[in-house]
Amino acid sequence: MMHFRIAALFALLLPMAQGSDPAVTFNRDIRPIFSDKCYTCHGPDTANRKTKLRFEIESGAKIQLAGKRMAIVPGDPSNSEVYRRVVSDDPVVRMPPDYMGREKLTDREIKLIGRWIEQGAQWERHWSLIPPLKPATPTAHETGWARNPMYNFVLETFGVRRSEALSGSQPPYFDPARQPGFGGSAAHAG
Ligand code: HEC
Repeated sequence: MMHFRIAALFALLLPMAQGSDPAVTFNRDIRPIFSDKCYTCHGPDTANRKTKLRFEIESGAKIQLAGKRMAIVPGDPSNSEVYRRVVSDDPVVRMPPDYMGREKLTDREIKLIGRWIEQGAQWERHWSLIPPLKPATPTAHETGWARNPMYNFVLETFGVRRSEALSGSQPPYFDPARQPGFGGSAAHAG
């Protein structure tokens, strides 16, 4: 039973996380685009590299190009050659290049790159090099229910953002009287 309830909580929390408009994260959102769609010609492989532009390291991506153009101007997508190239519909300009048989990036990918540059084009080290951080455990309002720290995280998020904030109504199986944190008791757990 308990496992079912936890699964139900996550099923509710997932769309909430997606519904908000979180900051674009380099490792999660941008690095995969560069590596899937750009590395072949602007990546670690020197033999394949088409220009000095390379996207696997920050110093290779944020460079000045011919004619004083900048590849990436943090905060300014329209003056960033990278953005100008991926958003373009001109087959001569667009990257990945139409003239080499490559598809245009998806709207979602283009928007992510634009928003990333707009938000300051923060680079991150590869995730495998970043030491994991242990976040502080939130205080649970009903400590009797929480069996281990994971429960505190679930309770905190669930208590702060209720499902009705998103959908305007509660899911049919949602019974506040049975939910810890909503005045329900822990007696039903398990
Ligand atoms: C199949 C090879 C290929 C792929 C994949 C590719 N490019 Fe290019 N890129 C080129 C070539 C060739 C040039 C040089 C000719 C030109 O400017 O069109 C270039 C030039 C550029 C330039 C201008 C660089 C300069 O020195 O002026 C930018 C910016 C750029 N690419 C961005 C991207 C981005 C971003 C991606 C991925 C979304 C990408 N490219 C994917 C081949 C590629």
